[in-house]
Amino acid sequence: MKLLNEILGTRYPIIQGGMANIATGEFAAACSNAGALGIIGAGGMNADTLRQNIRRCKALTNKPFGVNIMLMHPQADEFAKIVVEEGVPVVTTGAGNPGKYVPMWKAAGIKVIPVVAAAVLAKHLEPLGIDAVIAEGTESGGHVGEMTTMALVPQVVDAVSVPVIAAGGIADGRQMAAALALGACGVQVGTCLLVSEECPIHENYKAALLKAKDSDTIVTGRIGGSPVRVLKNRMSREYVRQEKAGADKMELEKFTLGSLRRAVFEGDTATGSLMAGQVAGMLHEVRPVADILADLYESGRQRIAALNAEC
Ligand SMILES: Cc1cc2nc3c(=O)[nH]c(=O)nc-3n(C[C@H](O)[C@H](O)[C@H](O)COP(=O)(O)O)c2cc1C
Repeated sequence: MKLLNEILGTRYPIIQGGMANIATGEFAAACSNAGALGIIGAGGMNADTLRQNIRRCKALTNKPFGVNIMLMHPQADEFAKIVVEEGVPVVTTGAGNPGKYVPMWKAAGIKVIPVVAAAVLAKHLEPLGIDAVIAEGTESGGHVGEMTTMALVPQVVDAVSVPVIAAGGIADGRQMAAALALGACGVQVGTCLLVSEECPIHENYKAALLKAKDSDTIVTGRIGGSPVRVLKNRMSREYVRQEKAGADKMELEKFTLGSLRRAVFEGDTATGSLMAGQVAGMLHEVRPVADILADLYESGRQRIAALNAEC
């Protein structure tokens, strides 16, 4: 099996997951320079800001990078053209089926890697000519599915013949080794990079992540059909309370309106949406991206070597 770094031309078999309002061109370039595939999160951007972020990223790194396009974004059609015009080497997609864009992207030489939360979608997308698939478990931060990484990854590996990248619940070498043991060719991480020096979120958001324990995340919107994993706080607890009490969708929308931006830019930890995965409890210090990535990779290798010696 080819490892992800061989497929993408990166130093490590690691992707920095696209993160709306957070993964700017600068941040993606920092991650690419540090050995991962940096990804610009187009969610929260418009056509102009996406173009600026791509150009900024290109100016700051000569390494491969990508753009994440959430397919329900109102400007998804425009974003799909911009990545071609700007010569972006890799596109990851979320929230749907990128089928109508794949021929245009493939013709432009773009590697297409959709994110899936179930094997059935991976199987459906494979004939479109995708290059790989990211199987993201419900442990992850942000929008989530139902299945755990442990159950999902091997079932996606069995369902498709393209390489599978594991995401959700990976923050150290033990989890990296486990992902490879499940049949993944590499990993995508988000939460562990939120506490990097380079990550442009407010310091209150980082402090909340460092304080979090293993069970300090909660999923809002499970009932309403748009589940998002965030840190527990006044907003998310109240959201889930009202959701369980049967509040209508419009009422609930009021809670989340602008809440990610409040968390990211204003550091509002009470009513902001502090998106984070279940590995938040494993984060203990703010470090440079290069240290986080090198540790993840090296400790993963050591774990695999230790298992080889033990078994
Ligand atoms: C704050 C935050 C925002 C995210 N935003 C997006 C997004 O805009 N698009 C997307 O496809 N995934 C998004 N994700 C998911 C990540 O790209 C990645 O797959 C996930 O974080 C991996 O799981 P982990 O959080 O356990 O590391 C987000 C994750 C976080 C933590």
